[in-house]
Amino acid sequence: MSSDDWKRQAAEHALNYVKDGMRLGLGTGSTAAKFVDLLGGKVRDGLKVVCVPTSETTRLHAASLNIPLATLDQYGSLDLTIDGADEVDEELRLIKGGGGALLREKIVAVASERVVIIADISKRVDVLGRFPLPLEVVPFGLSATRRLVAALAGDCGCEGEVKVRVGADGAPFMTDNGNHILDCAFGVIDDPEALDDALKLVPGVVESGLFLGIADVGIIAGPKGIEVLTGIESDFDEEI
Ligand code: 5RP
Repeated sequence: MSSDDWKRQAAEHALNYVKDGMRLGLGTGSTAAKFVDLLGGKVRDGLKVVCVPTSETTRLHAASLNIPLATLDQYGSLDLTIDGADEVDEELRLIKGGGGALLREKIVAVASERVVIIADISKRVDVLGRFPLPLEVVPFGLSATRRLVAALAGDCGCEGEVKVRVGADGAPFMTDNGNHILDCAFGVIDDPEALDDALKLVPGVVESGLFLGIADVGIIAGPKGIEVLTGIESDFDEEI
């Protein structure tokens, strides 16, 4: 089995959390896309849901499958969001933003009563930080923001290259919100909460890819089957 198969298995398992009539947040990335594919099949078979996508890519994908869509402003809050992640630790702390959608993903996740993360085993880590931490930053003053990020992260014991992400055209990658992404290769992040607090002090940082205390359930698929992780503050595990 390949990581693609495990991503699909995790997505299939997440369907168990979806109930008729729910307002759903739809994540971004290859794993979330598998969930969207499966959800499209359920909608075709008669499932009634309304979905808020976390990116233009996901919006187009869901629309192509005739999944009913809404904006977050139409509802204000959602029942459940299903999304992928770049890293997941034991406490369900996450690094997200590899696909550049972290700001909308975090807005949608925080507006959701429940958040289920789906991933293949390669995303499961003991300590966050192997995957470069993405930060969404405003274009204005990019170099100053980059310098301050590196300095404040250093104060938290996080050293490493802070790179402006570039797109296929060689220009700085542009998010759906018209911002850029800094990818921070910090290596081990010993204290994600302290780092997140520090990064929020940088005026040009819009949001960090650290998702702390946000996920309720993590569905991790691998060669030994499916592991279901539950967030420390969650009361949402075996409700399926
Ligand atoms: C996008 C994300 C994705 O969920 C994350 O990058 C995982 O993507 P994939 O499922 O393709 O590995 O945070 O901003």
